[in-house]
Amino acid sequence: MKKLLNRQLYLHARPQGIPTPEHIHLREVPVSRPGPGQVLLENLYLSMDPAIRGWMSEKASYFAPIALGEAIRGSTLGRVIESRHPDFREGDHVVGIACNAWEDFSVVGGEQVYKVSTDNGFPLNYHVSIFSAVGLTPYFGVLEIGKPQLGETALISAAAGACGSLAGQIAKLKGCRVVGIAGSDEKCRWIVEELGFDAAINYKTCGDLTKAVADAFPKGIDVYFENVGGKHLEAAINAMRVNGRAALCGMIEQYNDTEPRPGPTNLIQIVGKSLRLQGFIVSNYFQHLPEFFAEMGPLIKGGKMKWEETVEDGIENAPKAFLNLFKGANFGKMLVKIGPDKAV
Ligand SMILES: NC(=O)c1ccc[n+]([C@@H]2O[C@H](COP(=O)([O-])OP(=O)(O)OC[C@H]3O[C@@H](n4cnc5c(N)ncnc54)[C@H](OP(=O)(O)O)[C@@H]3O)[C@@H](O)[C@H]2O)c1
Repeated sequence: MKKLLNRQLYLHARPQGIPTPEHIHLREVPVSRPGPGQVLLENLYLSMDPAIRGWMSEKASYFAPIALGEAIRGSTLGRVIESRHPDFREGDHVVGIACNAWEDFSVVGGEQVYKVSTDNGFPLNYHVSIFSAVGLTPYFGVLEIGKPQLGETALISAAAGACGSLAGQIAKLKGCRVVGIAGSDEKCRWIVEELGFDAAINYKTCGDLTKAVADAFPKGIDVYFENVGGKHLEAAINAMRVNGRAALCGMIEQYNDTEPRPGPTNLIQIVGKSLRLQGFIVSNYFQHLPEFFAEMGPLIKGGKMKWEETVEDGIENAPKAFLNLFKGANFGKMLVKIGPDKAV
C-alpha cells in the first residue's frame, strides 16, 4: 500500500459552553495498519451528531468522554481499502456508528461496522443518514414510544432537523395532525409546504411558546417528540392531553450549558394527566435496521417520505458544520463529505 497521511480532527481542549476552533484541531498522522480482525477504511462521509458535544465534556453519558488528544469520535461511511477480517474485502462500503472518527482513514474492528449496498438506487450517503442511526431514531421513537393513533395530534421540536423532519412525517403517515417547532420562517414553510406538516411555530418569533403551542392544539397533544428540552418541553407538557406520550429523543438546548438549567416548572402535570415521558437511545434498535430499511426504502423512493441533507465539503470544515447544528444552519441531516469522490 502506498504511504498515506491521515488528516485527523482531535480534541485539543475541553469546551466550556459552545466549542470554538480552540477546542478542535487538525493534524496529520501516519495511517495505521489493520491488525487481525480489523479493516482499514477510507472515510467518505462524516455524520454530524449533536450527541458528540456531550462526548467532548467529562460529564457521564452513555458513551465514554473523548480523551484530550483523541480523534473526535463519530459515525462514518467509508470504503474498505485493506481488510484483515474474513467478512470484508477491499472496495466494500461500510458504516460504523460512533466507532470511527473525524479523519481520512480509520482502523476499526470488523464487528463494529456493517456493509452497505451500493446498487439499491439510493445515494451512498443515505446509508450514514436516513438508513442509519438518525433514521432509526425517529422511527422507533415515534412508533414505539409515541404510539400515534389515527386522528390523534403530534408536536415535534427541532422539526426541520434530521430526526424531527422524519418524526413529523411518520406521525403524519399514521394519521395524526402534526405541528412542528423550528427556528426560522423558511424552516416553518419547508416543513408545512414540502414535508406535509399541518402547521408550524417559529419559536424565535412566536413570543410566549407555551401560549403558541396551546393555541396550535385546541384539544391538546397526544404525542410529543422531544429534541430540544427546556421551554419546548414545558410548552408541550402544558398542552398534553390525558394519557399523552412523549418520546424524549434529545435536549439540544442544554448541550452547551455551563450551569445546570432549571427544569420545566410544570412537571406536576405529568401526574394529573397520567402522561408517559420516556427517553430512549437508538443503539437499542440497531438490530431492526433491515426491517426499517424494508419499510422506509420504498416510501423514500416513492416520494411519500422526504429526506433532506445539508452536506459540507472537506474535513477542515467539519468543526464549522458541527457548530452549525447549534445555530440551526441545517435543513435535515448535516453531513460532511471528505472522500475523494461522491460516486460509488
Ligand atoms: N436518543 C437518540 O438515540 C438520539 C439519536 C440521534 C439524535 N438524538 C437527538 O435528537 C436531537 C436532534 O438531533 P439531529 O441529529 O436530528 O439534529 P438536527 O435536528 O438535524 O439539528 C439540530 C437542530 O436543533 C435545533 N437547535 C439547536 N440548538 C437549539 C436551541 N438552543 N433551541 C432550540 N433548537 C435548537 C436547530 O434547529 P432550529 O433552526 O429549528 O433551531 C438545529 O438545526 C438532538 O437532541 C440529538 O441529541 C438522539
